[in-house]
Amino acid sequence: MSDRAAAAVEAAIAGEAKLDAHKLRRDFPIFQQRFHGKPLAYLDSAVSAQKPRQVLDALREFYETSYTNVHRGVYLLAERATERFEGSREQVRAFINAASTREIVFTRSATEALNLVAYAWGLDNLGPGDLVVATELEHHSNFVPWQQIAKRSGATFRPIPVDGSGELQLDALDAIAKQGRVKVVANNLVSNALGTINPVEQLAAWAHQQGAIMVVDAAQAAPHRRIDVQQLGCDFLAFSSHKLCGPTGVGVLWGRAELLERMSPFNFGGEMIRKVTVEETSWNELPYKFEAGTPPIGEAVAMGAAIDYLTAIGIEAIGEHEHTLTAYTLERLADVPGVHVFGPPAGRRAGIVSFDVKGVHPHDVAQILDFEGVAIRAGHHCCQPLMTRLGVAATNRASFYLYTIPEEIGRLVEGLHKVNTTFGVGRVRGESGVRG
Ligand SMILES: Cc1ncc(COP(=O)(O)O)c(C=O)c1O
Repeated sequence: MSDRAAAAVEAAIAGEAKLDAHKLRRDFPIFQQRFHGKPLAYLDSAVSAQKPRQVLDALREFYETSYTNVHRGVYLLAERATERFEGSREQVRAFINAASTREIVFTRSATEALNLVAYAWGLDNLGPGDLVVATELEHHSNFVPWQQIAKRSGATFRPIPVDGSGELQLDALDAIAKQGRVKVVANNLVSNALGTINPVEQLAAWAHQQGAIMVVDAAQAAPHRRIDVQQLGCDFLAFSSHKLCGPTGVGVLWGRAELLERMSPFNFGGEMIRKVTVEETSWNELPYKFEAGTPPIGEAVAMGAAIDYLTAIGIEAIGEHEHTLTAYTLERLADVPGVHVFGPPAGRRAGIVSFDVKGVHPHDVAQILDFEGVAIRAGHHCCQPLMTRLGVAATNRASFYLYTIPEEIGRLVEGLHKVNTTFGVGRVRGESGVRG
């Protein structure tokens, strides 16, 4: 670890960093509980973030004072509910610097947002001779919809390969482009499995040179990095509320208005129509054309409170804090016998560290850590093509957020020493450290 990184960890431990994680933790009621008699070291924020009291209070306050259905009633309460719901849309717009709230579609999740684009754009625009390009690094939710829509439409599906440390092999792009007309490029901004930060702006430029659209999965990026959809140069971007301290059940699709205008609806039903006759139906204006039925009203309002919460802390400070923790974790894990870390060096990754312990199944590792009160993820992380590429069935994954403190990484390391004691893994020189 560089002197600067070491100083950052020390500052974090002393509570002198830009972001005071010790203080912020007090906002999260979950940390008042003990698990297996120990304080909770929640190192699984990539799966879902914990919720601060400010968000929980906003949800309750909305239901207690302002709740009914939206866009329907003319009475005062209905107007208030609609105003709060649409206010949240404006907060999302500002959060990702979209040009207009017409481009912000509320969905159930990032998964639904990505399916919306794959179905509504893909089925009308793809056919034989077209190429749909995703990456080997995608979460299944930005992989399977494109694979399946390619199959249905007769297009060809081609993932961009990754190298042994999980970084995209962009030198494969020319060969891919020779295989057909590239129509879609789909990539996550941050990999949920390895934490790799992907060169999305570069890919978007390439996609546009090919005449393709660029679809960005920002589920692991939006909670931790400033998103500017106009600067990224993409055409669609998706994320979920629950990974940024908001409630489950609501996600966001941002799309360029001119593309959304030309797309068919994804779901049919109430609210998304302008006029319905026995013979024909015409569609509502943006974004309502894509919001059939009752939307996740309270959830969207509380997502707005989560955005306020993150913005007040400072999204850059959050990213910096996680970066410090990641560098610290890589340093500490290098000293644990039998531990191999997957993925790029700290400089090119977000707050996610995937690893395995030689000869011990990831589920056993996670279970022993659980008895120590340390919660990590074990599995394929919804990235089976990536696991195949790395030659493993599963990994362990520790992931961080604004409430993660260095002491929890210390507890992770202590727990891994216990795993080694339990399974008799001895120190073998040269077997720890980052592996490609
Ligand atoms: C990179 C990435 N994309 C998409 C998703 C899907 O998000 P959701 O389950 O909220 O739809 C996840 C969830 O883990 C993710 O990590």
